[in-house]
Amino acid sequence: MLAPTLFHAAKSRAVTSTPRLLTLPARQLASTWASVKAGPPDAILGVTEAFKRDQDPRKINLGVGAYRDENGKPYVLPSVRKAEELVINAKGDKEYLPITGLADFTKNAAILAYGKDSVPVKENRVAITQSISGTGALRIGGAFLQRHYPHSKTIYLPTPSWGNHTPIFRDSGLEVKQYRYYDKKTVGLDFKGLVEDLKAAPSKSIVLLHACAHNPTGVDPTNEQWKEISDIVKEKEHFPFFDMAYQGFASGDTDRDAFAVRYFVEQGHQIALSQSFAKNMGLYGERVGAFSLVCADPDEKARVDSQVKIIVRPLYSNPPVHGAKIAGTILSDPELYQQWLGEVKGMADRINGMRSSLKDLLVKDLNSKLNWDHITNQIGMFAFLGISPEQVAKLCQEHHVYLTADGRISVAGITPHNVQHLAESLHKVTSN
Ligand SMILES: Cc1ncc(COP(=O)(O)O)c(C=O)c1O
Repeated sequence: MLAPTLFHAAKSRAVTSTPRLLTLPARQLASTWASVKAGPPDAILGVTEAFKRDQDPRKINLGVGAYRDENGKPYVLPSVRKAEELVINAKGDKEYLPITGLADFTKNAAILAYGKDSVPVKENRVAITQSISGTGALRIGGAFLQRHYPHSKTIYLPTPSWGNHTPIFRDSGLEVKQYRYYDKKTVGLDFKGLVEDLKAAPSKSIVLLHACAHNPTGVDPTNEQWKEISDIVKEKEHFPFFDMAYQGFASGDTDRDAFAVRYFVEQGHQIALSQSFAKNMGLYGERVGAFSLVCADPDEKARVDSQVKIIVRPLYSNPPVHGAKIAGTILSDPELYQQWLGEVKGMADRINGMRSSLKDLLVKDLNSKLNWDHITNQIGMFAFLGISPEQVAKLCQEHHVYLTADGRISVAGITPHNVQHLAESLHKVTSN
């Protein structure tokens, strides 16, 4: 009987305190968040939303940077399936990982990036931490440089760059500036502009470099150009921060794709490196990555490690375990590792095959008068078509082909089933 009694007491109090009741609803209406303005939607997720709303059976989503199989379906690598089975059968616990993650994974991630013969790895002077995929690695790196890099708080990004780079580094407390990278006229690398801008930047600036398969342009420097970039970075004493989100996706060979990273290290640069296993292992949602810094000696490495921990601890305490166990299993089991290398090559080959099909259809079948060589010259998951925002809008609205407004397509979304419709649509919007 206690509850009704209390209810009645409350009710009678409410009746007797009428003046307060009159003011209360008015106060509740003025929400704390009333002045929060709606932010712009994420450019890439917005494309997916528009794609989902479209009911046309010919629709194609080339916005999202995720690999798709020949039927346009998400692909779980067989090596990942096997490794996951091994992880599950091992019936491990679900305890917290250390702050810097699973050592069996990070040790092998460093070897994958820096190479098995890497001197800094052998000398135990690479400070490495597991991260929440590539995004998390970049964010840890940004925070570390903001706190500990003594010479500059400015990071130079290529124009254009992955859309998330600017907010990641701004939110880390760095100032973001640009260097020229892409030449609209040639739909290729503006090497002259890049060199001029790196030379013009104040010495000891931080420079972000896409290690391979540049996103969004798909345009990479040649090995000779990387050597020149390394010389300029050395001359200017810039600090190179490599973002390697696509190791294996550019050429199909993880060693070849690590050329720039390894060359810079051989040349004595103390690089920072972000690695993602989202694309090359297809572990997108598992969020597996690593951030590393090349140090002078093991003692310096230990001090850097301790400061990385101080950054990570209040951010998310420690990283998730499942995906790191899968990646760690693949990287440490020789047989699975070989299988995985073959599967990475298979994904890269399928992408390159689709590049050739698209170009051939445009040039040979549809007799496009435009030059489409950049489709096959570019590398990695994306092709930068070099078309206008108006042409992009037409592709979406009239042809049900969805891509980002900058004219970037994810080649991984092209299949033998949709390439004809894509080529015809592209031809139509570019030929008048
Ligand atoms: C250039 C670049 N860096 C980093 C990332 C990070 O991705 P994730 O956080 O999924 O590993 C991406 C993903 O698209 C990317 O394109």
